[in-house]
Amino acid sequence: MDYRIFQRSYDTFAKRYDEVFEAQQTPKILGLLDAAGPAPAGLRLDVGAGTGLFNRLSGWGCVEVDVSRAMLRTPVRARCVQADLARLPFADGAAGAVVSVTSLIDFEPDVPALAEWARVLRPGGLLLLSVLKRENLPALEAALGRTGFEARATPDLGPDWGFVGHRAG
Ligand SMILES: C[S@@+](CC[C@H](N)C(=O)[O-])C[C@H]1O[C@@H](n2cnc3c(N)ncnc32)[C@H](O)[C@@H]1O
Repeated sequence: MDYRIFQRSYDTFAKRYDEVFEAQQTPKILGLLDAAGPAPAGLRLDVGAGTGLFNRLSGWGCVEVDVSRAMLRTPVRARCVQADLARLPFADGAAGAVVSVTSLIDFEPDVPALAEWARVLRPGGLLLLSVLKRENLPALEAALGRTGFEARATPDLGPDWGFVGHRAG
C-alpha cells in the first residue's frame, strides 16, 4: 500500500495515539523483548516507530524511523528519521537489529520491506517483528525465508503474530 496513506492518517492521529494504543502495544513489545534476549550491539532501528513506545519500554536506544513526522514528534525526541520503512537511508549491513511492531500493514507476499531490512542488517543481525493476526501469515513466513531470514514464531502476542529472526549469513 502507498505509504503516504499512512503518513496522512498518522499525522492526524499522532496526538491521540498513546491514549488509544499504548495499552494494546505494551504487552506485544514486552513479549517480543522476552523472546529476543539482550539487545544486539551496534545500530538498532525501530521502523514504523510511531511515538517511540519500543524505546521507552526497552531502553534499546533505537534510531526511530517513521513516515509520519507528527508521530516522531509526539513526544519530541532525538534520533528520529522520517523515511519509508521500505527505503531506509542506511548502508548495507549497517544495523545489528531491526524492530518492527505493527508497522507492516496489508501484508503482500512480495513485500519489499523485508528485503530492505535484510539489506541493512549485518549477517546474524536480529529482526523483531510483530504483525496483526489479520495479516497473511503463510505469505509472511514464506517471504521471510525468501528474503534471507531464519525466523521463529514467538509465544502468542495477543492481537499480533510475533517473530524473532536473524539475517542468514
Ligand atoms: C500501528 S503504528 C505502530 C507504532 C509503534 N511501532 C508502536 O508499536 O506503537 C504504525 C506506525 O507505522 C508507521 N508506518 C506505516 N507505514 C510506514 C512506512 N511505509 N514507512 C515508515 N513508517 C510507516 C505509521 O506512521 C505509524 O507510526
